[in-house]
Parts: sequence; C-alpha cells; structure tokens
Amino acid sequence: MSDNVIIFDTTLRDGEQSPGCSMTTPEKLKVAEALVELGVDVIEAGFPIASPGDFEAVRAVAQKFGDRATICGLARCRRDDIERAAEALKGIAKPRIHVFLATSPIHRQFKLKMAQQEIVKAAVEHVKLAKSFCDDVEFSPEDAARTELDFLCEVVEQAIAAGATTVNIPDTVGYATPTHYFKVISHLKQHVSNINRAIISTHCHDDLGLGVANSLAAVEAGARQVECTINGLGERAGNAALEEIVMALKTRHDYYGVETRINTPKLCGVSRLVSSITGMLVQRNKAIVGQNAFAHEAGIHQDGILKERTTYEIMRAEDVGYIGTNLVLGKHSGRHAIRSRVIELGYQLGDAQLQQVYDDFIALADKKKNVYDADIVALIDNRMNVSADRWKLVRFHIAAGTGTIPTATVELRDESVAPPTTSDTTIGRSSVTFRDAAIGDGPVDAVCKAMERIIGITAELKDYQVRAVSGGEDAQGEASVEIIYLGRRYHGKAISTDVIEASALAYLKALNKALGEQPSEATAKGV
Ligand code: KIV
Ligand code: ZN
Repeated sequence: MSDNVIIFDTTLRDGEQSPGCSMTTPEKLKVAEALVELGVDVIEAGFPIASPGDFEAVRAVAQKFGDRATICGLARCRRDDIERAAEALKGIAKPRIHVFLATSPIHRQFKLKMAQQEIVKAAVEHVKLAKSFCDDVEFSPEDAARTELDFLCEVVEQAIAAGATTVNIPDTVGYATPTHYFKVISHLKQHVSNINRAIISTHCHDDLGLGVANSLAAVEAGARQVECTINGLGERAGNAALEEIVMALKTRHDYYGVETRINTPKLCGVSRLVSSITGMLVQRNKAIVGQNAFAHEAGIHQDGILKERTTYEIMRAEDVGYIGTNLVLGKHSGRHAIRSRVIELGYQLGDAQLQQVYDDFIALADKKKNVYDADIVALIDNRMNVSADRWKLVRFHIAAGTGTIPTATVELRDESVAPPTTSDTTIGRSSVTFRDAAIGDGPVDAVCKAMERIIGITAELKDYQVRAVSGGEDAQGEASVEIIYLGRRYHGKAISTDVIEASALAYLKALNKALGEQPSEATAKGV
C-alpha cells in the first residue's frame, strides 16, 4: 500500500455550498492558486452543470492550473452532467470527472425511487461514459456510510470494473463514528475483489464533529485519498478540515506512517485567504489556524514553554505559518524592513503592491503606537481584497451619543462616472461624488442607511462582527458583514483603527459585490 495520501480539496465545490460562501470566478481563481501552491493533489473546482457561472469557474480553474494539479468536475449519473464536466475540463493535462449516485436505502426510497439493481446499472453506465472522456474517473456512492455493506461492496466493485480509478466513500450526513467508518473501509478492502485497482477515498461531513476523526480512521484502514476543505467549510456543519487532517498525519507520522505533499507553512495563509473571500470567520480556538492555536495563557504553560517548547506544544507555529502578535516595526522602519517582514510572513508582493502596503503601514504607524505582525497581515489582506468596486467611500461624519438620534452624513464617489469637466451646481452632488444623510438605530446603522440612499438599494444585514486584529487599546478593528440582496448573500470585510469606518467600508464592499459580479449559483444545486 502506498504511504502517500492524496489530498483532494473540495473548498471550491462542497465548501462553496456553505450558506453565504458563494465565490465569484476571480475569487475561485485566487483560492485555486493558493491551493496549488499549498500542494494539494486534486482540486474539485465545481459542479459544471449547476449553472453557467459554475461551468465558467471550473473551466477557468482548469485552464489556469490544469497542468499543476488534477482538476476535478462533479457530475450526477446523468449524460448531460458528465458531458458538461468533460467540456469544462477539455484539453487540460490532468482532468478528473467525479460521478456520484446515492446508494443508501433512505436515498433510494425517498429521493431516487430506484431499486438496488437500477442504481448499479446507472452507476456502471455513467462511469463508462465518464471514462470515454478521461482516464481519471472517481465514483461516489453518496450516503455510503448509511448504505448496507453488501450492497455498497457490489456498487463499488461494479464501478471499479466499469473503470473508476478512485472510489470515494462519503459520509454525506456526518453520521459515521471513527470505529464504524474504519470497519466500513476495512470491509470494502476485504470483500471487494478488485479493490486494489482503485484508490479508496474518504469524504466526511462534520455533523457530529467527527469529520476529521472519521477521515483519519479511514486512512488507518487503508484509504489513500482524503477529501476535505480549508477551514472545514461545507454543507451544514462542513467537511473535514484539510489543515487538521494534514497536521494530524504529519504530527503523528509515528502512528500513521503516511505522507502528504502539503507545504504546511502555507496553511495559515490559505486559511486567511479563504476566510477573507468567503466572509466565514475562523473561530479563535480553531485547531491549527485559529488565532489562539499557539497562544499560551496559563503561567505554568508559559513557564514550561520557556524551559522546553515541547512541554506544551506538539507542533511548531512556523510549520503551519502561524503569525502571532510579535511586535514588529515602528514608524521609522524603512521600506526594506517592511519588505523583509512581508517575505518572512510568507507573502510575495510586486513592487506596486509593496508600495501600497508600505504607505498603509506608515499611515497606521502614525495612528497606532505598536504595529504587530497581525496588523501587517491585515494590511496585506486588505490590499489583496481590493477589487474594482464601483462605489468608494470619500468621507463620513456621524453624530451619536446618549440622548441624541444617531445621524450620519456620507459622501461616496461613483467610479463608473467620468469626472466632470465643469462643476455641477446641483446641491449636494457633483457628477462623480454623491452626498446624503440618514438616521439609524446607531451610528453604524445610520452610515449604512446613508450609503444605501446614495446607491439606491436596500439590503438586509444578516451578520455583523467586529474583532480586534491585534492587542492593545489602539488595535485595528476588522469588521465583517453579511448582507442579503435580492435573495443572495454577499459579504464584505475591512479594517481601520476606527471601527465605524471599518464597518462602513465592509458594508460598502458587500453592497459593491451585490451590484457587481453575480456569484455562481452553486448554492442552488442541491447536491
Ligand atoms: O457529501 C457528499 O456525499 C458529496 C458527494 C457529492 C461526494 O459531497
Ligand atoms: Zn459532501
């Protein structure tokens, strides 16, 4: 048995199915690039039949990265689905078509209304069809963990005989437990006569919080591909988290004895990127990539760490690219010092980007006594997060306090309008900048309402969070909002030393997204 575990990332497909996590094609390309650099073996880029947006995204990822990783497209057991997936992956070096069909009694009876032998027949026919387009075909008996073992063996055996090179055993509803799942994989290894002709894969959802534990149990039983997502994104409670699986296999190499190709110092960077693009915040105490993952608070622990790091640390922070709150640079630090710190933090910026980050740093250092690594990272992420937004915040003023009605006056610039050649005499507006005022339940609400009045749309605020980027009273605030506009969710994130400004910028970012590019319709696909 190989001692290499294939890492199959499905952040762009199953991860995108998390409510509010739809990504645009440019955003998917950014994530795909980070995944390639991270060293994942297979990227499931989407479900091409789901929508034209999904098709385009899979095609774009395939065209750009199809020679650096295997790019996979999902398809139901339907001719149209498979042809569409094949079309999206056409011409690339390493395409994979992933065909799935539910096998559990519940799905057979209530969803598919198909008998066991009809399922086998459909699986075989569609694996063969996929095989006519590419050699690398994966088959998933959906809800495998709740499927009768004898029937599961039959479907898997027939799918392999039809040409499947990977057989994925999904725990679609997160029902399995580690020992149970270990037994399922072991049973397949013992009872499927041709099992050695395919790689066994795991795909575990986290409904009982066991996704990672189940995936590891499957590896122990002989699975050699793990399907997972960055930050554990995915349907409902999510999928098994890539960073946790990879670090468990690495840290407990003594026990599992297997390797992955993952460049682990990039883990925290990719986690931040995905969080910033999807708006899905990472909980502070999240394993591996959470802000507290390497923070030691108790005196006894700190003392132990100072004497010998391994007393309380099983992994080195640098092995996952963790960035703590080291005091870094001051206002007088030069461009060279910033450049080397940015590189040490794992970023590669061009000269223009570096200059912007440097300017932001100087502006920040003017307002804030201590600048930490986390501040630098937030500045870089903020710059990378800049898109061609139509509306820009020029200035705002608020009046708020006990006994007053929170009021905001806002000026926005419409970047889609050419600057005026002569001044416009209309009160309160020129051809490119627009002003308005509004009252609200609080200052943030008033600013958001004033911006909506200018832009002419009304969105529903679904989620709003503010957190301090680093420590200290003068810490930068990072605001994160999620809005619903015309039935779709959009998110925005921004930083500032002024939390009302951060909130206004985050809200404006979300409004700009709502007005601009429409994300793919992945959430409507019903997988
Ligand atoms: O959870 C699941 O069963 C899936 C399949 C499409 C593999 O996502
Ligand atoms: Zn899934």
